[in-house]
Amino acid sequence: MTDPLLRWRDEFPILDTCTYLVSHSLGAMPRAARAQAQQFLDAWETRGVRAWGEGWWETSRHTGDLLAPLLGVPAGSVTMVQNVSVAQSTVVSALDFSGPRRRIVVAELDFPTNQYVFEGFRRHGAEVVYVPSPDGLTQPVESWLERIDEQTALVCCSLVLFRSSAITDVRPIIERAHAVGALVVLDVYQATGTLPLDLTALGVDVAVGGSVKWLCGGPGAGYLYVRPDLASRLAPAATGWAAHARPFAFETGAIAYAEGEARFASGTPNVSAWMIAQAGYRIVNEVGVPAIRAKSLRQTRRIMDHAASRGWRVRTPQDDAWRGGTVTLDVPDSARVAAELIARGVIIDHRPNAGIRMAPHFYTTDDEIEAALAAMDELVVAI
Ligand SMILES: Cc1ncc(COP(=O)(O)O)c(C=O)c1O
Repeated sequence: MTDPLLRWRDEFPILDTCTYLVSHSLGAMPRAARAQAQQFLDAWETRGVRAWGEGWWETSRHTGDLLAPLLGVPAGSVTMVQNVSVAQSTVVSALDFSGPRRRIVVAELDFPTNQYVFEGFRRHGAEVVYVPSPDGLTQPVESWLERIDEQTALVCCSLVLFRSSAITDVRPIIERAHAVGALVVLDVYQATGTLPLDLTALGVDVAVGGSVKWLCGGPGAGYLYVRPDLASRLAPAATGWAAHARPFAFETGAIAYAEGEARFASGTPNVSAWMIAQAGYRIVNEVGVPAIRAKSLRQTRRIMDHAASRGWRVRTPQDDAWRGGTVTLDVPDSARVAAELIARGVIIDHRPNAGIRMAPHFYTTDDEIEAALAAMDELVVAI
């Protein structure tokens, strides 16, 4: 049986050089990224300052519109930013923690950058409440629900947890947050490009993520979605002149926010990174996330079945409905095994308190999975 997704392999030069199973960390570079970079450099070299008026200033809008279908949100609702940390800072800076509603509820297992940002707002009155995980793997919905109440300003939840690739059941969390008047920011970094998303149907208020992983977009291309009917009610203190309704009027004093996605911008746009990221978004859109998901479930299942046959501990949910694109294998001496796999050209990564993270993507062959598992068989000391 031929796998139609493999025709994309030629677009990713690194695949000729190693077994690349690390797209949960850094997706492979599409060949077209180089052409995008070249286009940016050509404009800078030949058009100079005129390039701003010939497209550069609109790069956030154009790039965000390529992302919108992957997030399941309308065009014009995605702002490009530097990274998730900046996106979260922008969102939290729009909240007022001086009244009784001053809690930020976040998962213990959330990616730490979110927690670092929230902790910084304690000086402005925020209280950070952590939702504990019973197993270091999952964040069950019940413990979220009992911590979200009328004192909650913001709930931050990762759709797919970065260590275990467990999917959190976010719908009841969003419903609960809305019932008590709290906002929800969903971190979709580990989901976008591997899980079909319909953030509009989910009713999420804000979503944040980046392009380094499944989107194959490279660094410097974070994104921030704000529900269109909510956007005009948020006034971020962390802002800048690109968020002004009339940036080139250079009006002094307090900002008059732009309407639409520009409202959540800061200063000079990161044109080169966002142009480069478009190459990955185009391919992921063309391949189609439902096809990516179907293949991912099949190949991650193969890895988990092999692990089970060897008695290796799997730190990723078995159930397809609750598993993202990565399998975390907690084998004995996993840091050494990871280093030796990389030395053999099987590119994976290792996370403390988790194990080896292995992730096929749409460009992965079944033979590559078998080769990686065979290498692990040789390296993992018999249990
Ligand atoms: C869920 C999640 N959020 C955020 C980040 C990173 O945040 P930033 O874009 O600020 O580097 C990562 C991984 O790098 C992640 O897995």
